[in-house]
Amino acid sequence: MIQMDKIIIRGGRKLKGTVSVSGSKNAVLPIMCAALLADGQYTLTRVPSLKDVDTMKRLLACLGVSVETDEHTMVIKHQGVSEYEAPYNLVKTMRASIYALGPLLTRYGYAKVSMPGGCAWGPRPINLHIENLKKMGAKIDLEKGYIVARTKRLKGTRIVFDVSSVGATGNCLMAAVLAKGSSIIENAAREPEIIALATFLNTMGARIQGAGTDKLEIQGVDSLQPADAHIIPDRIEAGTFLIAGMITAGEVRLQDVESGNLTAVLEKLQEAGAHIQTGDDYIHLRSCGRIRPVDVTTAVYPGFPTDMQAQWMALMSLAGGSSVITDTIYLDRFTHVAELRRLGADIILDHNTALVRGVDHLSGAPVMSTDLRASASLILAGLAAKGQTDISRVYHIDRGYESIEKKLRMLGADIQRDTEKLAV
Ligand code: EPU
Repeated sequence: MIQMDKIIIRGGRKLKGTVSVSGSKNAVLPIMCAALLADGQYTLTRVPSLKDVDTMKRLLACLGVSVETDEHTMVIKHQGVSEYEAPYNLVKTMRASIYALGPLLTRYGYAKVSMPGGCAWGPRPINLHIENLKKMGAKIDLEKGYIVARTKRLKGTRIVFDVSSVGATGNCLMAAVLAKGSSIIENAAREPEIIALATFLNTMGARIQGAGTDKLEIQGVDSLQPADAHIIPDRIEAGTFLIAGMITAGEVRLQDVESGNLTAVLEKLQEAGAHIQTGDDYIHLRSCGRIRPVDVTTAVYPGFPTDMQAQWMALMSLAGGSSVITDTIYLDRFTHVAELRRLGADIILDHNTALVRGVDHLSGAPVMSTDLRASASLILAGLAAKGQTDISRVYHIDRGYESIEKKLRMLGADIQRDTEKLAV
């Protein structure tokens, strides 16, 4: 027998109230790795309390870096690492561990990082990380499931990504800041998390221009200094809570959020009938009548994020008509479809496109969470469904949503966590 948490939702309550958005998972993880680039002490604030952040702490600890957290403040300290290896047991639970590769290699000339392997919804290659670090002069071998990278010193180069990749942009950027000479990264990711990373690196003394555009220009420097960072709000958590308000015909206000990072999602919510007001650090959503069907095609930033695709599908399941949802970033990211169908959703999947025919209501049922965003979509559907929804294997949700049940309860949801015993 093993014990596992499950979430129990009694659906049908309109959510109403204010919720504070936590710091961004996908911003804090590369920034924690950037701390490998210079000895000394770093203070990060608005650090979200998440499983993935804990995993990254354990990874840094394996390298000999001290990481202490008090509430949402994290202090990272080291005088150079003592190990250079990101082990399999950590990398297999969090692919973002690959962010250790660029900093270790450029700073110490050696890195050994376990190959991430597949993920719950299919292959997620890392060829762009490897090819372009090689272009900067690294010698990279694959040995017994590990990427082993060596260099005397990386050299600045011109990188042109044929696919825009958040992770490869982040890794090559961290490598380039300490490389000899200048680098150009074209077709660079423009995501806010990459801007946050570039801003942090510049605070450390790096010379990066063009963050937020698809062309980054980096003048390599000989050394960097430690710095502090206030982590940006999590735009995917924010989008998820907005849909929670909308799907339950409620009204929610998000605090501590940057609405400018959510433009594509806010536009789609408005098309679907939401009334939205934004201010410097808030977004207010009021639902108005039946959800209207709205098609979505995911794209790199500033397009509609793939990390909101599953949640959007939950919303569209209750729309007054049919919509088409296409994921162009991850063609197989649809493990939530079968589970949403268990709740009564009418979805036909064809390759990377889902036809969602809105139904009048969903009905609670036992479902299983399969990955982080799929779990979020099941919670959203469960909040709107009639009756009780039990979601098992919810450990996925703790990777990326801080205190999700607590925050939803503050909005009036009937949601609890329980431990179930599973036969193995
Ligand atoms: N790709 C390649 N080769 C590579 C790298 C990526 O072909 O070497 C392809 C991928 O297969 C995909 C596309 O490029 O089709 C974009 O992938 P990207 O590299 O941008 O993804 P990532 O860096 O691995 C980050 C987020 C993901 C998010 C994606 C896309 C972090 C830690 N993860 O992943 O977040 O879905 O960008 O926006 O930042 C999540 O939070 O739930 C999550 C999965």
